[in-house]
Amino acid sequence: MLALYGYEEIRTPLIEEASVFGRSLGEGAEIVTKQMYRFEDRGGRTIALRPEGTAPVVRALIEHGLDKTASLSRLYYLGPMFRAERPQAGRRRQFHQLGVEVFGSASPYQDVEVICLLCRLLERWQIAGWVLKLNSVGCRADRKRMVKRVQAGLGKQASALCPDCRIRLEKNPLRILDCKEPGCQKQTASLDLSGDLCADCRGHFERVTGSLERLKVPFTLDPRLVRGLDYYTRTAFEVIHEGLGAQNALGGGGRYDDLVELMGGASVPAAGFAVGLERVLMARPAEAGRQALQRRGGAFVATVSPEQIPEAVALVEWLRAQGVAASANLEDRPLKRQLEQASKAMPQGCVLILGEDEIRQGVVTVKELSTGQQRQIPRSALVETVFEGSKG
Ligand code: HAM
Repeated sequence: MLALYGYEEIRTPLIEEASVFGRSLGEGAEIVTKQMYRFEDRGGRTIALRPEGTAPVVRALIEHGLDKTASLSRLYYLGPMFRAERPQAGRRRQFHQLGVEVFGSASPYQDVEVICLLCRLLERWQIAGWVLKLNSVGCRADRKRMVKRVQAGLGKQASALCPDCRIRLEKNPLRILDCKEPGCQKQTASLDLSGDLCADCRGHFERVTGSLERLKVPFTLDPRLVRGLDYYTRTAFEVIHEGLGAQNALGGGGRYDDLVELMGGASVPAAGFAVGLERVLMARPAEAGRQALQRRGGAFVATVSPEQIPEAVALVEWLRAQGVAASANLEDRPLKRQLEQASKAMPQGCVLILGEDEIRQGVVTVKELSTGQQRQIPRSALVETVFEGSKG
């Protein structure tokens, strides 16, 4: 899927200088102030375990001069991220993200392409019931206006906000908009957030929403979606899944046109997203994906004499290649012992017996351990009759 969209892999180290994140995510962002594993290494350098992938990719892009030489870079990464949080369902201290970042295009249609890729991935992973939430956080000047409006609107009711939001009111007012505390939600519900976007940002956002509509990608507009990282400009989005509980974001991203320059590179517009893979697994229906064909009670390939062991190995490998879970006798031991051990280990299972005759005739003797019944089945019909017919 990533190759279809033209992405190439980038791998960045798990540790970075802490300043890589402070500068980019915002010194006041909670991910930096509260969640980043930060410590001194033996050389006295302040380093951090990466809490996210975008800032390291931008750091690498600048370090390798791609911000100046490449016209368009499409990069993806997959790996562990670290956030010092109180663990709960869907929230881990070490988790995995698959993320993509595109550098070099300011086009609203680039935002659309990135959003489409996220949706296609979720479809490919057979996840249903997700909702795409969309907003525009505008340019720097727009954000300044929004901050003022939030501070003016909430300043008088500061005592009604949760303790965290009272601090946010000074340090990071926009974050109050997506606070989950009911008291804070009540206060922000009455804020009028429309009209803060400049004409350029409004035009950009209209092209994004228009194009998504044309592509029939369903979305919900959410003027309170600001995301927890400071680097976003214009389009911001999040995919949520109600089945996930309190931590309901499967993934999120957006445009960040100022970040490369802010981190010391050229002025390069960019956009991207990351999905949390543990949350993807939580949201995936149990039956999704190719399940191994498990014979109820288990399956074991036994041999009449040691000469058939190479054939047994070939048979069990072939079965596994067909998606069947099975194991085989690899030791020089009599058939009787193999059957005794199999009966003990899997009393409801079946044994596939291979002897000289079976090999010559291209059949397998299948013994049901629960009843002791035996039947011969041609190898060509083995998966169909013994495994697909009785999935466990
Ligand atoms: P983020 O929203 O902070 O964005 O994280 C993206 C996803 O990572 C979340 O939606 C969630 O699925 C997963 N995630 C975050 N924290 C945890 C956790 N503690 N345990 C399990 N899963 C978690 C970013 O990280 C941005 N770098 C995305 C981006 C890329 N924006 C532009 N490009």
